[in-house]
Amino acid sequence: MNSSFYNAVVIITGSTQGIGLETGIQLLKQGAYVVFNGRRENPGPVLQTLLQKHSSKACYIAADVGNASAVLNLVTAVIKQQGKIDIVILNAGMSSQGYLHEHADGVIQNIINTNLFGALWLSKYAVPALQKTKGQILCISSAAALCGIAEYSLYSATKKALIGLAESLYSELFPMGIHVGVTIVGFTENETFKTALKPDGSLHPVPNRNAFKPMSRAATASCILQQLQGRRRIVVTGLSGKFAYAVSRWWPALYLRLLRRHYLKSKLKA
Ligand SMILES: NC(=O)c1ccc[n+]([C@@H]2O[C@H](COP(=O)([O-])OP(=O)(O)OC[C@H]3O[C@@H](n4cnc5c(N)ncnc54)[C@H](OP(=O)(O)O)[C@@H]3O)[C@@H](O)[C@H]2O)c1
Repeated sequence: MNSSFYNAVVIITGSTQGIGLETGIQLLKQGAYVVFNGRRENPGPVLQTLLQKHSSKACYIAADVGNASAVLNLVTAVIKQQGKIDIVILNAGMSSQGYLHEHADGVIQNIINTNLFGALWLSKYAVPALQKTKGQILCISSAAALCGIAEYSLYSATKKALIGLAESLYSELFPMGIHVGVTIVGFTENETFKTALKPDGSLHPVPNRNAFKPMSRAATASCILQQLQGRRRIVVTGLSGKFAYAVSRWWPALYLRLLRRHYLKSKLKA
């Protein structure tokens, strides 16, 4: 098979559904060995069927990425099984909507643990293995990182932090031959069962945002594969993402005002 992913060992965090799962499916088709991950013990029917079909090319390892020792165990298990790691995709993510001051302390901790500490722990523990393969780390950020969004403060803050992490590691790990990139994901079609946290910690379903013409998960995953293939530092996906990226970069104050106006209008309507 003529693919740069052939026999590459790839860990994708948060890949029991959504963009992570789709990225894993596309990497499997390109001949990679894919380590799927999520917190749930049982990966669910779709992933279970996939794992049965590709039993020699894929596995599932349950681990909460916010837990340092669970992440270390994940890395150790992959090296023991496969002997190497070529790519880690820091995709696990969780959002919440609501006023920051109404969030329970545990919810704040949970989101920061998943979105930021998850990326830090896996980057830290995978570096020695990635150095041997001259591998890659890819952070999955969001257009919500370009300018903080009202009532998504934890999500915006952690996703913005991932851009900083990717920038630091881009230079820091370059001498070791490790490439670090970041994907700024624009609106993408949600998984049917996608959930987000409420400030009190309960989960609520996230509806699809058809008004924003979301990209399909397959198209977003395909951008991720192209980015990895070209070892590109930054990729912004989708029209909405590219628009947000351009405006926030060239007219940051204007973009902030536009977001505030949109927020205030939505509050008046509600
Ligand atoms: N969808 C979009 O429009 C969009 C836009 C911009 C950026 N993004 C980013 O893209 C990534 C994927 O988004 P998505 O919409 O595909 O997500 P999703 O459908 O909500 O799936 C989230 C995945 O993360 C896993 N997960 C959550 N917390 C975890 C933890 N602590 N440890 C390990 N796994 C965990 C979940 O599995 P378990 O439940 O089994 O743990 C699930 O597989 C996220 O980082 C998100 O911020 C998405």
